[in-house]
Amino acid sequence: MRLTPDQLEQFDRDGYLFFPGLFSPQETRTLTDAVPELYSRREAYNVREKGKDAVRTNFAAHMVSEPFARLARHPRMVEPVVDLFGEAVYMHQFKVNGKMAFEGDVWQWHQDYGTWLNDDMMPTERAMNVAIFLDEVNEYNGPLMFIPGSHKKGVVQARHDLTTTSYPLWTVDHELIATLVDRAGGRDHGIVSPKGPAGSMILFHSCLLHASSSNLSPWNRVSVYLSLCAVSNHIRRFKRPEYIAHRDFRPIECLPDDCLVRDYPVDVPWKDGLPASALQTSSVPFDEMKQAA
Ligand code: SIN
Ligand code: MN
Repeated sequence: MRLTPDQLEQFDRDGYLFFPGLFSPQETRTLTDAVPELYSRREAYNVREKGKDAVRTNFAAHMVSEPFARLARHPRMVEPVVDLFGEAVYMHQFKVNGKMAFEGDVWQWHQDYGTWLNDDMMPTERAMNVAIFLDEVNEYNGPLMFIPGSHKKGVVQARHDLTTTSYPLWTVDHELIATLVDRAGGRDHGIVSPKGPAGSMILFHSCLLHASSSNLSPWNRVSVYLSLCAVSNHIRRFKRPEYIAHRDFRPIECLPDDCLVRDYPVDVPWKDGLPASALQTSSVPFDEMKQAA
């Protein structure tokens, strides 16, 4: 899938592109059907909501589950990002966020690149977020909210929030959010939230400010979030475990477009459990490690 000049202009202006219903119900179902087994595993990569059993985030499903390994190589998702960067990309992060009915908790306002810079030493913002809805996203089940155009601010000041939810995040204070929403149009589209059927896809800039509120509806809001990083922009520090911030910088090789409905062979090396190496961390920057070796 290639982006048109209009879409490229829109991405530059707003910091995101929305593709409602890009994947068919049949394609989406192969992924949705694989979620309960993934979430039932008692592994470090399943982060549960604070004080609850419901899964907030599942990391690295593409290393564990064949349908997700195929999605990670899907040309409809990878090609537009390669086009935008003019360079091959690797998988920096892969999440299946639950936001389960009645249980799904908030995601405070943040920029993803803030975390990748502060924790992983990713050199620049040349990494893209892709969200794929596995359930319908509506106004009740905690849709993602964006401040359009906020990616133009670059990296804004953030603090490490270790208490609000079960997952640490570099979050942005409310005063700055109020100012940015006001500048983006205030009540007139200063906040937008793309909503649509299962199978919809959003591409959003790694500096775009976003958040989502809790899910008090009776409908799950399971979505996949993939972060594709330009290969030359790979992270320089392994401070977070490999199942959160990946260390395989090889370019993604796409499968054919029908890969979600046909059984192409894929490698799922963590299928039988996480290797000890995937839990190891180091605060020493990667280049220094190479020099010391
Ligand atoms: C995220 O920002 O990484 C997740 C937000 C959400 O799932 O609503
Ligand atoms: Mn995010």
